Amino acid sequence: MIVAIDGPSGAGKSSVSKLVATELGFSCLDTGAMYRSIAWQAVHDGVALDDADALGEIARTYDIGFTHEPGNPSPIGVSIGGEDVTLAIRTAEIDRAVSPVSAVPAVREALVAQQQRIGRSGNYVVEGRDIGTVVFPDAEVKVFLTASDEARARRRVLQNEQRGVGSTDFDEVLADIIRRDEYDSSRAASPLKPAEDAVHVDSSDMTIDEVVACICDLARKAQEG
Ligand code: DC
Repeated sequence: MIVAIDGPSGAGKSSVSKLVATELGFSCLDTGAMYRSIAWQAVHDGVALDDADALGEIARTYDIGFTHEPGNPSPIGVSIGGEDVTLAIRTAEIDRAVSPVSAVPAVREALVAQQQRIGRSGNYVVEGRDIGTVVFPDAEVKVFLTASDEARARRRVLQNEQRGVGSTDFDEVLADIIRRDEYDSSRAASPLKPAEDAVHVDSSDMTIDEVVACICDLARKAQEG
């Protein structure tokens, strides 16, 4: 079974997806981490972010891997070309680089194929922007998770503080979130938009436990038939 969780940055997709996966005994796939890894590799290799051919080549040739702890189906780390980039993909530099990289059709084509292969290998909670619309249009459960701009910026600042990486300046984070939403929603290739059959969940005034319970409920109903 696939539980697709789409939505803008900072809506809580990552934390919610991991908890939903644990609760249901599913694995978890963070597709944003895959786009971030390609952006990191491009910056590392000195590839221009408007060089679509070179970016497509990176996505087709470098292996992205997820590292797991025994007994935990949700990955704890991500690597590209064998290099651990778990923290390196969360910097403000990669926050900026990932939008143009994820707008390149050849990058999306390569990553979508990998996501489809991984997701259909078991029961997965898959989070991203185009999971319910493009990657798994036949997902059994589709959620579009949103929150107000301010709630999302507050959460992202907290997350960056906890990780010790990325900006912790509220105004900078808010501006970046708004900029990325505009970019992600207006790009030609797979723009951020809810699937027609997605359940909309606005998490602004919900606790994380409430959001998780709501999505697990949808998944259990889908499992029952
Ligand atoms: O979820 P995130 O903030 O880590 O995602 C990083 C970027 O990758 C985001 O700006 C949009 C892009 N992305 C995408 O285009 N499609 C996906 N399925 C996941 C992320």
